Amino acid sequence: MDVSKELEIFEEKIQKGEKIEPKDWMPDEYRKNLIRMISQHAHSEIVGMLPEGNWITRAPSLRRKLILIAKVQDEGGHGLYLYNTAETLGARREDMIEALHTGKAKYASIFNYPSLTWADMGAIGWLVDGAAMTNQVSLMRTSYGPYSRSMIRICKEEAFHNRQGYEIIATWCNGTEEQKQMAQDALDRWWEPALMMFGPEDKDSTHSAQSLKWKIKVEGNEELRQRFIAMTVPQIEARGLRLPDPNLKYNPETKKYDYSRINWEEFFNVIKGNGFMNRERLRDRNKAHNEGLWVREAAEAYSKKHSSNNK
Ligand code: 3HC
Repeated sequence: MDVSKELEIFEEKIQKGEKIEPKDWMPDEYRKNLIRMISQHAHSEIVGMLPEGNWITRAPSLRRKLILIAKVQDEGGHGLYLYNTAETLGARREDMIEALHTGKAKYASIFNYPSLTWADMGAIGWLVDGAAMTNQVSLMRTSYGPYSRSMIRICKEEAFHNRQGYEIIATWCNGTEEQKQMAQDALDRWWEPALMMFGPEDKDSTHSAQSLKWKIKVEGNEELRQRFIAMTVPQIEARGLRLPDPNLKYNPETKKYDYSRINWEEFFNVIKGNGFMNRERLRDRNKAHNEGLWVREAAEAYSKKHSSNNK
């Protein structure tokens, strides 16, 4: 079959809402864009273990420690599903990991901000996982079958992460004046980076037009950012916290929230590798990878022995 006919069938399938599966014909650009996005997503999950992992030994109670360990472990699991998903498109795990560790690959900008206090564990779960979930619930409808299915389980876990974060914040808001102040400070620091998670404004988004056409993404960056704001503002108010932006206000005419201009210069600087924590995050990832070499070697030796015994 010639390529234009293949493309027609492919686009028709997408229009009908059918999923594209790994063995189906797909344009190279579709494959390339998905590998880029899914591998960046996988890296975000793995790097996202670091700011919270840093607080496991300092959790204020056994209950909090158990929850935090489970959450960080979930993020590792999400990374694994997503690397597997990218592999269904022909990407090699070693190449993806190398691109992360050498600083060539991007991961979510948010993880280049420092987690300074225990209240940040609340803000990360509530805002960062809340933003991630808003985006990923939408991605459950992506046209690529394996990615869409991996989002179903990931979103269930993100919902738990989001609630446990909100519960930490709610507890602190009912605590001492100092604790409430720490919750406010965490909200103020994480708000803008959380809004940045949805990516640049639609006019500056390099990939949106093509991704929306092929339903790799089903909603634009700004649409999802607005959904997150609309979900989170009532939660902020319910806790008696101050809005983190003096210009954040519902506009009945546009039926959207107005908010202060996001510092996009800072965003682009962070994704270029110049954020507060970029170097430290890559250093920690490389260290963990190198220290895990003996585990990978042992697993490989075991699997070789096992497969030769079965012959
Ligand atoms: N952080 C880092 N890079 C970002 C970014 C962000 N928040 N937002 C956009 N970018 C990058 C893009 O990757 C692209 O760079 P590239 O061309 O070098 O690949 C560039 O900025 C232009 O942005 P676009 O809008 O054109 O990019 P996309 O169309 O890919 O949209 C996105 C960006 C909305 C983040 C989209 O890629 C997406 O939905 N990705 C899947 C979800 C994801 O990766 N989530 C990570 C969240 S963290 C997480 O899940 C961990 C959890 O445990 C909290």
